[in-house]
Amino acid sequence: MSSLEKRLLGKNAFITGAGSGIGRAIALRYAREGANVAINDLKVESAEQTSREVEALGVKSLVLPADVSDSEQVQALVERYFTEWSKLDVLVNNAGIGSTMETVSLMKEATWDRTMNINLRSVFLVSKYFAKQMVKAKVPDDQLRGKIINISSVRGKYGRAHFGAYSASKFGVVSLTQTLALELGKNRITVNALCPGLTLTPIYGNISAENLAKNNAHIALAFKPVGMPEDVAGAAFFLASSDSDWITGQSLLVCGGQHFI
Ligand SMILES: NC(=O)c1ccc[n+]([C@@H]2O[C@H](COP(=O)([O-])OP(=O)(O)OC[C@H]3O[C@@H](n4cnc5c(N)ncnc54)[C@H](O)[C@@H]3O)[C@@H](O)[C@H]2O)c1
Repeated sequence: MSSLEKRLLGKNAFITGAGSGIGRAIALRYAREGANVAINDLKVESAEQTSREVEALGVKSLVLPADVSDSEQVQALVERYFTEWSKLDVLVNNAGIGSTMETVSLMKEATWDRTMNINLRSVFLVSKYFAKQMVKAKVPDDQLRGKIINISSVRGKYGRAHFGAYSASKFGVVSLTQTLALELGKNRITVNALCPGLTLTPIYGNISAENLAKNNAHIALAFKPVGMPEDVAGAAFFLASSDSDWITGQSLLVCGGQHFI
């Protein structure tokens, strides 16, 4: 790709949970489009690995390990980000965990709390502390100050048995996306969410696409039963690019039709 075709050239992005799966794919897609990408993950080695892959694509990277459900760690991370880089154009709240597949009646309260903390509180904290800085960015009147992209789930729009805590946390992400879009609109910051369907990532352990599809027979009618992280990264690129500048408060299903089933 020539530098003229790189649509995110000169932009700075920060992605949570980018040491693996969907977050890593978004980091590499943004880097290929010319963006510098700061990488967060709980797992330091995974974050460093993605960061090396990003730098190998010819852009700058920064490793910011932290537990994004912890307020103190998030505040320290935001401070360090702005010590190293002067502006943030694209924030991606991606870090998350999957469902424990228990019914609500058998679910431990600790499971509920952990899911809410990692999948929803993290989006609140990271958005809160980054947005405080993003609104100060000096940009021409006809340009956006930045974009926030939250990774929800198809379960953030449609509940399902055994997804009690997970689905509630992801519905919360969709709701927070709408609120943030309204609150930050006047600051020229857009806020949107992606709602991926079943996507082959380490969140399911070491499993093949075929077996993942077999274990989820209810989605067998979708045109592609299992998506790849790059499928979600393509939509995350659209939401980071200027082609989506007049879109905010939306939660886009990226699931190949799985939501009908
Ligand atoms: N894979 C799917 O089928 C699917 C579908 C819909 C939505 N999602 C969502 O996509 C996002 C990414 O999931 P994935 O499938 O790529 O999973 P993954 O396990 O491959 O990656 C998630 C990353 O987040 C990190 N992480 C977890 N908790 C963290 C914390 N507290 N602080 C910082 N980092 C943390 C993990 O270490 C991991 O590297 C999640 O929010 C997930 O709920 C995934």
